[in-house]
Formats: sequence, structure tokens, C-alpha cells
Amino acid sequence: MPSALPDGEPVPADGALPASALAGAADRPLGFYLHVPYCATRCGYCDFNTYTATELRGTGGVLASRDNYAEMLIEEIRLARKVLGDDPRQVSTVFVGGGTPTLLAAGDLVRMLDAVRDTFGLAPDAEVTTEANPESVDPACLATLREGGFTRVSFGMQSARQHVLRILDRTHTPGRPEACVAEARAAGFEHVNLDLIYGTPGESDDDWRASLDAAIGAGPDHISAYALIVEEGTRLARRIRRGEIPMTDDDEHADRYLVAEDVLTAAGYTWYEVSNWAASPDARCRHNELYWRGADWWGAGPGAHSHVGGVRWWNVKHPGAYAAALAQGRSPGAGREVLTDEDRRVERILLELRLRDGVPLSLLRSEGLAASRRALADGLLEPDPYQEGRAVLTLRGRLLADAVVRDLVD
Ligand SMILES: C[S@@+](CC[C@H](N)C(=O)[O-])C[C@H]1O[C@@H](n2cnc3c(N)ncnc32)[C@H](O)[C@@H]1O
Ligand code: SF4
Repeated sequence: MPSALPDGEPVPADGALPASALAGAADRPLGFYLHVPYCATRCGYCDFNTYTATELRGTGGVLASRDNYAEMLIEEIRLARKVLGDDPRQVSTVFVGGGTPTLLAAGDLVRMLDAVRDTFGLAPDAEVTTEANPESVDPACLATLREGGFTRVSFGMQSARQHVLRILDRTHTPGRPEACVAEARAAGFEHVNLDLIYGTPGESDDDWRASLDAAIGAGPDHISAYALIVEEGTRLARRIRRGEIPMTDDDEHADRYLVAEDVLTAAGYTWYEVSNWAASPDARCRHNELYWRGADWWGAGPGAHSHVGGVRWWNVKHPGAYAAALAQGRSPGAGREVLTDEDRRVERILLELRLRDGVPLSLLRSEGLAASRRALADGLLEPDPYQEGRAVLTLRGRLLADAVVRDLVD
């Protein structure tokens, strides 16, 4: 969840949605994203809406302390129940993200999940994920999460090499993420993800291969690999500007991506979204698929974004402002927009083109169709071999996904 919030129209104090948002809701899955905006230290590259204890001191941090965070978030789940009224849907996916969710006690995360279950009901096969930092879990906490109904855990590994972790300001030691996978398996988690970052300044081809090998060797059923983005306003961006460390290189990113595809495919993982590989269709992250396919989700917590039936809204960013709104019985929503049909068409193309299933050609206008024919001729798109009428990125197209999609939305 990036930290910058768009402008928009105000959200009513009671959070009420226009009636149009709930039309046909029964036919769409409903997910919950629960944001935990706390980290022990801030990684130099990270732009997410998260706060260290020092950053919160004297800024309403008492109202929004970690100790009462679960209670506060549960207030928003109750608000969601009121706003969604008699919407009969059970929740099909829950994703607890951060920040570092596992800085809270595992029992707090379970109570937040219990609140979703008690208030909405969880589908019998619900996928329930938490993100976790490798240094912030132990076997006991993983066991509590599993017993409490979590089905999936996603660890931020980033790299297997100490000098790369140092540039990223990560505090865990090499080897710890792999141990976390074993601990999660022992606790009964069938689904485990490792997040990797490639293209960190100073990372060599050999470092990247070592990270992929270490991740694969740990045996997760899902691996995400993200190109390092140098976000404005971060410590990493300042260090690069000062010349302390070199800028990342796009060509190097492309080379690293090709290595990832090669190594992960050889190890039995298949891409299903540009940055995501799964060991089997069952191992895909259904919650992320729900985002990418424009389904409904309620994002609870400071700065969290929600989308229900073409209405998108986002909460106030600061935990203090968030706590104050809920304490006064107001929605923490900071702004919203009602998407037009054209907004939704463009959004579908932007998100679905990044998927292995590709984008239906029926979404493209005449200029987009012309661009898709050019992309096909240039080897950037292929007609999906499995589904008539859809276009899918080729491997080369995946390297240039942003540019391809820009032409298709015309
Ligand atoms: C925001 S973190 C939250 C999970 C957890 N706190 C952690 O760090 O592992 C989710 C993932 O986003 C990715 N990420 C965050 N900032 C990034 C950036 N600037 N460039 C690339 N990937 C980034 C990292 O791989 C990270 O594991
Ligand atoms: S631990 Fe995760 S969320 Fe926290 S600052 Fe680092 S990358 Fe961002």
C-alpha cells in the first residue's frame, strides 16, 4: 500500500456508500485488507504508510498505540458491517499487511481475524494471510496464528546476501527467512511466500542467483520478486542523490528479471502475475487476485484503500487521526471517488494485462486494438494459447509491461 493518497470527494461521516456500490454485490467476492502501520525500524527504500515508535512520539501516538491497535481496527470492521448493511457475503480472503503485522502480539492478529469472522462470516475455504518480517516471528507466534485460522504467511526475505540487506537497511540475518519457512511449515502452514527484491545497488548477478537459490531451497510454494523502486522522499533516494550509492539500472533490472523467470521456472514455479510465481494454481495469492480482478475489498487501518462496486476510498494516513475519527464514531475515510465506466475499463486493462490470463481484447478500443496488433508483431504480446480473445504478455513483453499497457488503454 503506497503512502501517497489521491484527492477525491469527502467520505460521509457515517461512511455510507452510494446505493450503486452494492448493486450485484452477491456475485462478487469480498475480501478484507487489515493494515498494521508499525515497524521496529524503517527500511531505507520503503515508502509504505508505516511508523516507528520514534516517528509516532508526540503525534497522537498514544491514542493509536500498538497496545490498543487491534481494538481500534475492530471498530472499523464494525463500521464496515453497518456500511455494508445486509450484504450477505462471507469473506473469501483476508490479508493482514504492513508495516510489520507481527510486531503486534499474534493474539491481536487472531482477534482481528475473529472480528471479521464474527461480523461477516468467513467462507469455509477462506485464504487468510499475514505478512511477517523474519526477525519478528518465532515458532510459538506462528503456531498461534495457524491455530487462530491464518492459512498463509508471507515473509520479507529480500536478499540472501548480507551486503545487499545492509543497503536495504534490513535487520534480519541471511538464513533467517529460510528458517522462518521451516518454522511456518512446522506450525502447519501449507502456503508460504517469500518476497525478494532485485536490482539493489551493489547487488551482482551472482548475489541475485544466490538469493533465488536460497529462496527456492527453503521450499515456499510462492515467491514474489520485485524490482527495487527508488521512492522519492526515502533515505535510499537521498543517499543516491548524495552519490553515496549508485542509482539502480533499468537494463540490469531486465537482466535480473530474466534470471528470475529462468531459475524459478526450472524449479517448478510458474508466473501468474508479472512479479509473482506459484508452485501450483492452489498456491496463488487469491487476495491479490481479487485486487487485480477488480472485486470488492474493505481496507481497514490508517491509509488503507477500499473498493466496493466501483467506489474507491482511502482512510486518513496517520494512526493518530485514524484513532481520533473512530473514537468520535466517524468514518476514518479521507476521500473517495466513484469510478466511471471508462475508469473501470482502463483499470481492468492496467491490472489484467499483468496477469498470466491476460486481458480480453473486447476491452480495447480501436486505437488500443491497433496497438495490440503492433505489440503482437513486435513479440510483446501473444494471443493467449488457452483463451480465445485474450492477449497475454510474452516474456519480453513482461519486461516492458508498463509501456505496452500505456498503448493499449488508448
Ligand atoms: C511493505 S512490505 C511489508 C512486509 C514486511 N514489513 C516486510 O518488509 O517484509 C511488502 C513488500 O513490499 C516490497 N517493497 C516495499 N518497498 C519496495 C520498494 N521500494 N521497491 C521494491 N519492493 C518494495 C518488499 O519486498 C516487501 O517485502
Ligand atoms: S519492515 Fe517492511 S513495511 Fe517496515 S519499513 Fe521495512 S519494508 Fe517497509
